[in-house]
Amino acid sequence: FVRALRSKGRKQLSPPGPWSFPIIGNLFQLGDHPYLTLMEMRKKYGDVFLLKLGMVPVLVVNGMEMVKQVLLKDGEHFAGRPNMYTFSFLAEGKTLSFSVNYGESWKLHKKIASKALRTLSNAEAKSSTCSCLLEEHVTEEVSELVTVFVELSSKNGGFDPRNAITCAVANVVCALCFGKRYDHSDEEFLKIVKTNDDLLKASSAANPADFIPFLRYLPLQIINSPRKFYQALNGFIALHVQDHLVTYDKDHIRDITDALINVCHNKYATTKTDTLKDSEIISTVNDLFGAGFETVSTCLYWSFLYLIHYPEIQAKIQEEIDGNIGLKPPRFEDRKILPYTEAFINEVFRHASFLPFTIPHCTTADTTLNGYFIPRKTCTFINMYQVNHDETIWDNPSLFRSDRFLNENRELNKSLVEKVLIFGMGIRKCLGEDVARNEIFIFITTVLQQLKLKKCPRAKLDLTPAYGLVMRPKPYQLQILRLRGGFLTQF
Ligand code: HEM
Repeated sequence: FVRALRSKGRKQLSPPGPWSFPIIGNLFQLGDHPYLTLMEMRKKYGDVFLLKLGMVPVLVVNGMEMVKQVLLKDGEHFAGRPNMYTFSFLAEGKTLSFSVNYGESWKLHKKIASKALRTLSNAEAKSSTCSCLLEEHVTEEVSELVTVFVELSSKNGGFDPRNAITCAVANVVCALCFGKRYDHSDEEFLKIVKTNDDLLKASSAANPADFIPFLRYLPLQIINSPRKFYQALNGFIALHVQDHLVTYDKDHIRDITDALINVCHNKYATTKTDTLKDSEIISTVNDLFGAGFETVSTCLYWSFLYLIHYPEIQAKIQEEIDGNIGLKPPRFEDRKILPYTEAFINEVFRHASFLPFTIPHCTTADTTLNGYFIPRKTCTFINMYQVNHDETIWDNPSLFRSDRFLNENRELNKSLVEKVLIFGMGIRKCLGEDVARNEIFIFITTVLQQLKLKKCPRAKLDLTPAYGLVMRPKPYQLQILRLRGGFLTQF
């Protein structure tokens, strides 16, 4: 393929790239942290280069300008998804996020998903003074999270907050999608939301099983882990969908699943939607549920780690909360009046870059990039980690410095915030950016309004991530002290 690519592009050059081995290509040169290896390769080959992963040519794109070219200016040509073995496990490959079929039907699908998420998030709160349903779900879950933290702390002193965070965040998306929440000790729920590192590694860019077909038939953890996980996830979602199909009432839309059933019922009336099958429309709930908890909970797990690693930053956020909202429960609209907290969250996005690559893209037609010929169906990796650590954009990128996002008046520098690449951009941009930003803000401010987080005495904190689709920090423990009216109380 590469030779064909090179000869077809005789008039138009093909991108440069390293020499590769037969069968395995450059797969095993990527090491434990592929985004770093690719950053190194960029020094030699430039912003655009070509690798071979197994037998598959993969285009790697770095640098803000080149990424904008691919995702925005020439977005239509790079908006496909490659045919990846691991992707096919989620709802049999029919999903919005992973489907290989890109075209008018897919665009319609994204519109339907976006509308369902927006409408249900912004729906009226049921019983509180919250501004919308999403805010109500988030405030309920964070207050439960604080209770769980206090219980864990009184039992064990130091504790690892990971499972509690994951349950709280998964409950938000569960409430939006299915109108239901689960107890943090519910076994059925834990089986679904307690993803493990093998799964995250297997779902990442550069899983050997996606590129070397015969590996799929071997009993390897990296193959079986995602298969088992997605089977369980699909089963869990199917049960909720079945239940909704039986109890659906068109005059009383309870949640996103009902909203999607409603689209199916109305599709012949609206004419445009009949190119999408009912199963595709309903599978949107797999996308939203699947994408909505691991990302946000990993971000919070990183945030709490940074807060105990840099207690002075935690103290500044607490001062900002005390000075501007006091003891009033934080709300989405408070993001405007807590610029330092917003700066901290953006610095977590940038520094941790816990999604180092977008989901892989694929070209939908022959195209050219930076003068190189790129054939149709070329798998494309966008190295977001590189953009977030690019020395031409960021002063001392390896330093964690929330202040970099504030201007001389201590206001949020919005044009710098836009340079952080964590939700992707253009046609394939994340659907949940607003939900995620609002949710993360309420979790962090509510926890810090009530608790002071501390590292355990003598513990060594490690800020290097474990590589995966979403990169988590290594497990850590924290301790808490309760804050009452600005004063600390011991448990
Ligand atoms: C896609 C990041 C939270 C729904 C993506 C992509 C990224 C991303 C990088 C891929 C973009 C691309 O392929 O170019 C994040 C981050 C989150 C987050 C960092 C949290 C901090 C959420 C939430 C939801 C969501 C809360 C929904 C409830 C989706 C969907 C897609 C997606 C449906 C697929 C879009 C497509 O294929 O066109 N997200 N996401 N995400 N995200 Fe998120």
